[in-house]
Amino acid sequence: MAFSQDDDTVLSEEEFRLLRDFIHEKFGIYFDTGDRALLRSRLLGRLSSLDLVSFEDYYHYLRFGPERNEELWRMITHLTNNETYFYREAGQLNAFADNVLRLLKDRKLKQGERRLRIVSAGCSTGEEAHTLSMMLHDSGEFFWNWDLQIYGIDVDQVALEKARKATYHHNSFRSVGPEIIERHFVSQGNGSHQVKEALRKQVQFVHGNIIESSTYEPLRPIDVIICRNVLIYFSDTATLKAIQTFHQMLAPGGYLLLGHAESLSRISDMFTPIRFKGAMIYQKPESSPAP
Ligand SMILES: C[S@@+](CC[C@H](N)C(=O)[O-])C[C@H]1O[C@@H](n2cnc3c(N)ncnc32)[C@H](O)[C@@H]1O
Repeated sequence: MAFSQDDDTVLSEEEFRLLRDFIHEKFGIYFDTGDRALLRSRLLGRLSSLDLVSFEDYYHYLRFGPERNEELWRMITHLTNNETYFYREAGQLNAFADNVLRLLKDRKLKQGERRLRIVSAGCSTGEEAHTLSMMLHDSGEFFWNWDLQIYGIDVDQVALEKARKATYHHNSFRSVGPEIIERHFVSQGNGSHQVKEALRKQVQFVHGNIIESSTYEPLRPIDVIICRNVLIYFSDTATLKAIQTFHQMLAPGGYLLLGHAESLSRISDMFTPIRFKGAMIYQKPESSPAP
């Protein structure tokens, strides 16, 4: 990337507005007025790479350029926050494992079904999806002989490449003890550890946009969507769009887990909130009116 620190290309207020609205429309991520300098610094390198002289040119490239689709996916890798780690917000994950999995299993057995599909929407480098795989594994024979599949979806192809390699360093382990590392990882030397193959096999990573229903179509029927620390970067309008998409894509009675800073209370009543010890989890009613 031909990025230079002292490049003085200005991102005018008008150009900022154009790019901000475009990014918001496509991905839901919303940059506030105060984020103008941030957006400029994140995108400046793209201008150099494409030999463009202004942010207005870049906007036109994104709208009408011959390789606009490729550029769209490339651009978004510069705009996402990929912060994540194993067993993040463990209280909610434990409530999920201790309560929701049992409810799902009982209901499915009554229906004569032994299949479970979980989606980590906005999975970043894969720690959340792999944590779910570890928790299912640690539930022992609870799901023995079931068809289990966890999908991780993200817009960021660079993050997804790391997720597929499943090799992690100390930053990803900040909330796990050595016993978890011992049980679920194989040491690669240099302090890095790879998730064991049996667990990796249960997780598939998919490139896509969580606000577009076409992303989920091949993965259905979906029993659980876990979307944490993603909607905090969205506007209310985009959050509602994401929630409507989750509602549409989840099976009746399916569950939705959001991050602790993300709540549906102001946004939508399409889901039923269920309070478990230390965690709120949402459920799509068994029979629900169209959103
Ligand atoms: C902060 S990480 C959260 C990772 C994980 N869910 C967690 O809680 O640790 C947010 C991720 O959401 C992804 N993301 C943001 N907007 C997205 C969209 N419209 N579609 C798919 N992924 C998106 C970003 O690329 C980023 O990897």
